Amino acid sequence: MSAGPTPLAQSPMWQALAAHHREIGSRHLRQLFADDSSRGERFAAEAAGIYLDYSKQRITDETLRLLLALAVECGLPERIEAMFRGEVINTTERRAALHVALRRPQGMALVVDGTNVVAEVHAVLDAMTRFAETVRNGDWRGHTGRRIRNIVNIGIGGSDLGPVMAYEALRHYSERALTLRFVSNVDGTDLVEATRDLDAAETLFIVCSKTFTTQETLVNAHAARDWCLSHLEDEAAVAKHFVAVSTNAEGVKQFGIAPGSMFGFWDWVGGRYSMDSAIGLSTLIAVGPEHFRALLSGFHEMDEHFRSAPLTSNLPVLMGLLALWNNNFLGAATQAVLPYEQYLKRLPAYLQQLTMESNGKHVREDGQPVGVDTSPVVWGEPGTNGQHSFYQLIHQGTRIVPCDFIGFAKALNPLGDQHDLLMANLFAQTEALAFGRTADEVKADGDSAPKLVPHRVFEGNRPTSTLLVERLTPATLGALVALYEHSVFTQGTVWGIDSFDQWGVELGKSLAKRTAAELTGGNEPALAHDSSTNALIRRYRRLRTQ
Ligand code: F6P
Repeated sequence: MSAGPTPLAQSPMWQALAAHHREIGSRHLRQLFADDSSRGERFAAEAAGIYLDYSKQRITDETLRLLLALAVECGLPERIEAMFRGEVINTTERRAALHVALRRPQGMALVVDGTNVVAEVHAVLDAMTRFAETVRNGDWRGHTGRRIRNIVNIGIGGSDLGPVMAYEALRHYSERALTLRFVSNVDGTDLVEATRDLDAAETLFIVCSKTFTTQETLVNAHAARDWCLSHLEDEAAVAKHFVAVSTNAEGVKQFGIAPGSMFGFWDWVGGRYSMDSAIGLSTLIAVGPEHFRALLSGFHEMDEHFRSAPLTSNLPVLMGLLALWNNNFLGAATQAVLPYEQYLKRLPAYLQQLTMESNGKHVREDGQPVGVDTSPVVWGEPGTNGQHSFYQLIHQGTRIVPCDFIGFAKALNPLGDQHDLLMANLFAQTEALAFGRTADEVKADGDSAPKLVPHRVFEGNRPTSTLLVERLTPATLGALVALYEHSVFTQGTVWGIDSFDQWGVELGKSLAKRTAAELTGGNEPALAHDSSTNALIRRYRRLRTQ
């Protein structure tokens, strides 16, 4: 097991890193760059079309050596192998975490409990492809014989964030004659606004839910069904306007969707790792089979790199360990993801679930406290918008916010010199964050009143990584997502936690069920909550009917 019986913070490598941090923790990036003119080229690695420059992280060669030794001490190489072999690494749910099987090429078998799961994956992929093609070429008709022009994906969490992120990211490659919408929130506004200008006769709903028990998704799916039938006035219309993606065939059947209109996946695919399973059906319909397969090949290329590259040049390992250094040793509680690519506007939200649902844990796999901080809070917005909003804090605030800058060399929509301007901003931000501006430099500029000098000083020494890619394509998107998946896995392995369960979402769900019954009904219920919750419920009951 990764963390072993010794508390992580007492392990030899952790202790060595703590001592090392005392020694170099406050060393400035100005100094580190001045000491080594090749730092910018040396602290970089490349795989699957992604160039990672981590030279602006606050590390030395020794930091890296110790972090890599920590990863080995925590059993990372063995755990990577265990994941790829399909072992039960999600121990609290007693299952494998085999999302890497979803993107294996057909001939590359992976036998788990006597079953070649890759063959099963490709059988579903083929069925999805056949269906997507009929929608795209107009062979699949709605109940009244009209062509499908609108796709509404209903799902939440991993059954929404992956599909919506991928659709937005790959919109450039999508069939523009189709309108795609994504409904996730139990707030009725989500569905109402998503459908208000759609023609039911031309609308297909994809109900995505791994469990097919998620309250929000089932409520929205029933409301969508009502909306559809209110327009088409025939129960039989459901067959032409609803398909499902789930592991729960029985639940899908009960909802009224025929088994032939269900695309399956497996319990070894975690929700937040499922955008490349049948949960990606909306992506496949939007961009077509060729692009979807390219997306999978990008994922696979990064998987192979993660599995086989030496740790010293392994992108996900390096990214994971740098995140851990920033979090556990530099004390950064958050991590910003800043794509300089408008199409990646939903990537930060996607990575929030991937990272925080995976590694927001307080105990190790064996139930013992982790004893050190786990997942940082992940947040972000596309550049350059964020620059005119929250970057002030990143530059001059009192907290360290490590940032991942993501940029592309080629624009998908070249417009004058706008792409060069965009990228100039990215490079300038990483430079300003690393090197800042001293009081002497401010004074030398000569355009500041003395009392303004402190306001114009930039301390610098803010750690960043830059991910530079030639172009945003389905393949590079796949590689990018796999990079973050495996970085999250690397961090979770060092902490010794199960990155594939999510027990922390259960308490809120069960309390909401109990509370829902108390919000309506004629008689004032006997409320057995705390005094705050009781008062809020009473006030809500009064106001909702006034
Ligand atoms: O409540 C959290 C969660 O279980 C996520 O892990 C998951 O992605 C989401 O809900 C949706 O679950 P399902 O796909 O089963 O509807």
